[in-house]
Amino acid sequence: MLLANNWSKRVKSKTIILLAISISIFFSVVACSGGPQATVGIKPEIVVDYIHKVAESDRTAYTKHVINRLKKLEGEDKPKGVVPAEATESWKQSNGIPLPAQMFRMGAELASESGNFTIGLISDWNINDNQAPRGEFEKQGMKTVVDTSQPYKAEREIAGKKYFSAIYPDVAVAEACVTCHNNHPIHKERYPDKVFKLGDVMGGVVINLPLDS
Ligand code: HEC
Repeated sequence: MLLANNWSKRVKSKTIILLAISISIFFSVVACSGGPQATVGIKPEIVVDYIHKVAESDRTAYTKHVINRLKKLEGEDKPKGVVPAEATESWKQSNGIPLPAQMFRMGAELASESGNFTIGLISDWNINDNQAPRGEFEKQGMKTVVDTSQPYKAEREIAGKKYFSAIYPDVAVAEACVTCHNNHPIHKERYPDKVFKLGDVMGGVVINLPLDS
């Protein structure tokens, strides 16, 4: 009798727990599908992380699996590559494919067309004159990113508009990054003492997210 009583108590308490879980799941589903919580936005510092993750992954995949395959095939040297082409700045005029920086810029321009955010590359050892760090935020940010390998984030104003901005380290993820930059005539002339190694921070990815006033 005592045993049966205990058993029925346990069944009751389990039923109550199950019911409580079901109710909380029901309310979470309702809230996520458009309840009051749907109006709470994602923090800008998280949004820039998402944008950066996609851009960085595309760039790494392009360099490792497209650029690298022009010279190496699955780790083996293959001077003529998988296709007889080279990665070159003048890819439109020659038998070439775009550099990672050019590929990145073309994507960035398309992404910026909607006006929601801008994304770009900068470096203290820039080859392209348009890609030098500008203003206090970019200069300080670039220095911090090179020193710490950590992203640098802050609110700033550009032409009277408020932005949440972030600079992420742009790392030499493939041998091609290092060899191409180190041997580029402009790099050699401007920064003769700067020899990049695999894993070095070569520059920064800048993201500017406009903030509503
Ligand atoms: C085949 C040559 C080549 C390869 C490979 C290459 N780059 Fe570049 N990169 C360039 C050139 C040339 C520029 C400048 C031209 C431009 O931006 O249009 C540039 C631009 C950049 C910039 C902007 C600052 C600047 O120099 O103007 C960064 C940062 C950068 N590259 C980092 C990298 C990283 C990281 C990788 C590897 C994931 C990489 N590059 C691979 C040639 C290369």
